[in-house]
Amino acid sequence: MSLLKEPDFGTPERPGEATVSVDVDGLSVTVPEGTSVMRAASLAGVDIPKLCATDSLEAFGSCRLCVVEIDGRRGTPASCTTPVADGMQVRTQTPKVAKLRQGVMELYLSDHPLDCLTCPANGDCELQDMAGVVGLRQVRYGYEGENHLDAETDRSNPYFDFDPSKCIVCSRCVRACGEVQGTFALTIEGRGFDSKVSPGAGELFMDSECVSCGACVQACPTSTLQERSVVELGMPNRSVVTTCAYCGVGCSFKAELRGDELVRMVPYKDGGANEGHSCVKGRFAFGYASHPDRVLKPMVRDRITDPWREVEWDEAIRTVATRMRGLQERYGPGSIGAISSSRCTNEEVFVVQKMVRAAFGNNNIDTCARVCHSPTGYGLKQTFGESAGTQDFRSVAQADVIMVIGANPTDGHPVFASRMKRRLREGARLIVVDPRRIDLVRSPHIEAAHHLQLRPSTNVAVVNAMAHVVVTEGLVDREFVDARCEGFEEWEEFVARPENSPEATEAVTGVPAAELRAAARLYAEAPNGAIYYGLGVTEHSQGSTMVMGMANLAMACGNLGRDGVGVNPLRGQNNVQGSCDMGSFPHELTGYRHVSDDAVRTVFEELWGRTLLPEPGLRIPNMFDAAIDGTFRGLFVHGEDIAQSDPNLQHVTAALESMELVVVQDLFLNETAKFAHVFLPGASFLEKDGTFTNAERRVNRVRSVMKPKAGKHEWEIVCDIATAMGYPMSYDHPGQILDEIAQVTPTFRGISFESLDKHGSIQWPCNEDAPEGTPTMHVDSFVRGKGRFVVTNYLPTNERTTSRFPLVLTTGRILSQYNVGAQTRRTGNVAWHPEDLLELHPHDAEVRGVRDGDTVTLASRVGKTTLRAQISDRMPPGVVYTTFHHPVTGANVVTTENSDWATNCPEYKVTAVQVGLAHPLAARDADPAREGRPVGVD
Ligand code: SF4
Ligand code: SF4
Ligand code: SF4
Ligand code: FES
Repeated sequence: MSLLKEPDFGTPERPGEATVSVDVDGLSVTVPEGTSVMRAASLAGVDIPKLCATDSLEAFGSCRLCVVEIDGRRGTPASCTTPVADGMQVRTQTPKVAKLRQGVMELYLSDHPLDCLTCPANGDCELQDMAGVVGLRQVRYGYEGENHLDAETDRSNPYFDFDPSKCIVCSRCVRACGEVQGTFALTIEGRGFDSKVSPGAGELFMDSECVSCGACVQACPTSTLQERSVVELGMPNRSVVTTCAYCGVGCSFKAELRGDELVRMVPYKDGGANEGHSCVKGRFAFGYASHPDRVLKPMVRDRITDPWREVEWDEAIRTVATRMRGLQERYGPGSIGAISSSRCTNEEVFVVQKMVRAAFGNNNIDTCARVCHSPTGYGLKQTFGESAGTQDFRSVAQADVIMVIGANPTDGHPVFASRMKRRLREGARLIVVDPRRIDLVRSPHIEAAHHLQLRPSTNVAVVNAMAHVVVTEGLVDREFVDARCEGFEEWEEFVARPENSPEATEAVTGVPAAELRAAARLYAEAPNGAIYYGLGVTEHSQGSTMVMGMANLAMACGNLGRDGVGVNPLRGQNNVQGSCDMGSFPHELTGYRHVSDDAVRTVFEELWGRTLLPEPGLRIPNMFDAAIDGTFRGLFVHGEDIAQSDPNLQHVTAALESMELVVVQDLFLNETAKFAHVFLPGASFLEKDGTFTNAERRVNRVRSVMKPKAGKHEWEIVCDIATAMGYPMSYDHPGQILDEIAQVTPTFRGISFESLDKHGSIQWPCNEDAPEGTPTMHVDSFVRGKGRFVVTNYLPTNERTTSRFPLVLTTGRILSQYNVGAQTRRTGNVAWHPEDLLELHPHDAEVRGVRDGDTVTLASRVGKTTLRAQISDRMPPGVVYTTFHHPVTGANVVTTENSDWATNCPEYKVTAVQVGLAHPLAARDADPAREGRPVGVD
């Protein structure tokens, strides 16, 4: 494929029913009212020269290159800022406008280095293009006068340079940072000749508010803001459209290559999830794929204390198959199993669960989604009938009130956060329910109407109290409830009880009753109220209860089944939704159908030629327990670092140590690989071919940008193992795997590589009833028929603070890092987050004698670790917070085995801990004022 250039219509679309017809250079075109003359002309096939306009930004009208003549109007209006009117006659090529445009270009070029041939943007520079388009042949002004040619380049950002000597002050970057990204890090400083782009108050990019999303780089028409990889490797010459493999937003990118070398990732304007935007991870943090730490040869060893021995693929696969079968012969068919990963494609996950069910002959398959969003699957299935979010991302643009619960979108789901922030700037109201004061609570041009700063573990009490307000204040949407739901009366009676009132729950939740009442009214009375939530909901002992609590609330307020509303999980990893859809839970086949359903099993049995077990297999924690008990002996871990990401790591590592065969497939020798006997090198997302499904059920193509560096696709390796175990599995191409998925899964019936290539992406369900997919679910009725209200009793967690462990630890992630950091730690992103820090409130710090930057111990009843303290009032007193991106921190050493009652999703968000100075004596010596005072426990 050659370099894919997407059209730029100059100004944004103005969707609307009413249209007007205009004539541009004799060509007639009909466009929605409010469309600019520039866009109308472009749609008619006439490109008007432009510099300050681009269709991702509102027109600004500063460069004057786009002037046109319009019959009956005086002067030469800028076509980017002039809306069309019915019957308008526009002339874009007249001697008068040609002269004006040449004059503008001449002025620009007279203050621009004429180094086009050696400029990194040569061939991809709009200034250069426009000079040609307007026919400029010479610049009459010399460089003698004042100019900006000596301005210094800012190279502080690890990924892009800012060379102000090339800046034409078109302000596209400034507007991109505000309108698209919503960070407002850039300004135009000064006036007239002195005006210049500035990050913050004359700071370097790295010292400013910039979050390195790349929107300004994307928008810049010159080489002023330029990816360093382009400077170093040269301009790319071909592109492959694929999908980011970091978070559940699922952004589409053009991977741009020069020969076989990846030069840059450019967000794809046609990407349904991101519409041309990106974050620092997807845009820039791809270097891990070619990091020297990548293991490219299979390796085996007899004992985990032995050194690794590199082997050929045949030997590695034979070793896995022989030893797995040997374990089954000695310990029984249920003694082995596998864990699949949300990092992998749908096709890879599908073949792993098929291998377990058909070749291993059991249901011992679980997925890492167990430890993040399994309560979402359970809770939404119980209430709505489908284990998935209700909306597409576009829907947020119609929301009037947005409630964000237990999620931190600006860090965790940045591109969706930008879409959400845009809506908030337009006037939608915001409710944040979170123990931590996340950035959204107050950020440029955004302020939450309510921040319900609840105590960790009290989500259910809060949602019940909100429901109490809705029910007792007459805010229920009776028409919706009567027509579309069941179980309302019992639920209504429950939430109306006095013990569920905001006043009664305040002592438990810490949320002031008046604030909670006001928030509940705001959500219930909104024309469109939308709920977005994250792991701060699910990773609790009552995670599933809370998901059902939110579903109840949304149904009671009629906030389902149309644009602008819904209950929407923000999925953590790129393919959490997909890995769950693909039947990788021990109790479910694809499409969330229980293994005990004879009719469903028969479909698979007939196709696969094997009898499948009707009883669920082991969940991840059951596998660990059984390993320690000696009944579970062999595990295939596909792309997941359970020895870093799972809770109560002592227990995890004890389980891994007790197994006879641990097979790890991954890019790097991760923490789990320390316990492995066979290591199978995996393929990075750039080498994969298949599909990911994002948080809005959008199935996106993942296309191979390069061949697998280790020589085999991961789905091939899994098929080879199954075949070597006596169950032949083979496909010529991953498209065949997707065809098989579609064949056995009603919600995927219409999805294939061909249909994805045709539509770009498809949101399931996609079948005879919805041939182009389903952006909004439950429109006229719920998937289960009637929406079901479920009584959601609040039960306090067993994890209680004590005098020994008086603080509550909660965990989260940061923008620049990703999950256990295996990828992002191997990129320039470490510049932003070289280590995990423990945030603690000034009061909690003071009583422990902890100062900012001190090394502290963090201890729970199961473990202890050490990290540096950051004093912060984002957390309320009594609550501490950290991330888990660095193995050295081992944050999960302290998290416990408490888990959700329905799904065993670990309670990562609530751990009773104590914090103390790691070196109290040294600290006391350094601070004579503290002499004699006990440290760490006072
Ligand atoms: S990279 Fe993103 S956040 Fe930083 S200045 Fe550019 S647009 Fe703004
Ligand atoms: S840096 Fe680029 S986008 Fe920003 S004002 Fe200068 S030329 Fe325009
Ligand atoms: S928002 Fe998520 S999917 Fe999009 S670029 Fe960032 S990490 Fe990738
Ligand atoms: S493109 Fe219209 S004024 Fe710059």
